[in-house]
Amino acid sequence: MKPLLTEEQIRQGIGQLAGKISARYRGETLIIVGILTGSIVLLADLIRRLDLPVRLGFAHASSYRGTARRPDELRLDTKWLPEIAGSHVLLVDDIFDSGRTLSAILGQLRTLEPRSLRSAVLLRKLGRQEVETQPDFVGFDIPDVFVVGYGLDYNGLFRNLPYIAAMESGDVEGEA
Ligand code: IMP
Ligand code: MG
Repeated sequence: MKPLLTEEQIRQGIGQLAGKISARYRGETLIIVGILTGSIVLLADLIRRLDLPVRLGFAHASSYRGTARRPDELRLDTKWLPEIAGSHVLLVDDIFDSGRTLSAILGQLRTLEPRSLRSAVLLRKLGRQEVETQPDFVGFDIPDVFVVGYGLDYNGLFRNLPYIAAMESGDVEGEA
């Protein structure tokens, strides 16, 4: 598969993202909430570059792709969240596409009364957004192509690719 972003580009982008986040929260403790499963590779790299005391939690969102469920109706599973009331919270996801997933989870986290609530994504697809909300921190703006790797999947596969690739027809056997 053809890399859209190489390992080195990703490394540099995450360094810049981490720099902006560290500057914004300087002197504070930050709770990072990763959206499972796509954010895990990004999380592992990002938190190690933050110059801040960090706590980690997770929110689970099943993708609406291939299902009838709307992400707006997501029920947030708080089982993997630390206590966030009164704390600074940064929600982290792999990609901002329509924006519905992030926006729905932000809405639900807000009801838990964090002191502040912002969001960071590695990728934002240009021209796809269906919500008003924009992420506060963005690693890369990318064209409207389907991408895999570095946590992003196609049918659950390719999350372990160390770079990000644009999928093309013919990349998956048996598919047009
Ligand atoms: P949104 O709610 O449309 O913003 O979709 C966000 C979720 O859809 C992400 O967390 C991903 O899991 C998935 N997604 C969107 N675009 C892609 C892509 O190009 N490759 C893999 N997953 C994607
Ligand atoms: Mg996802």
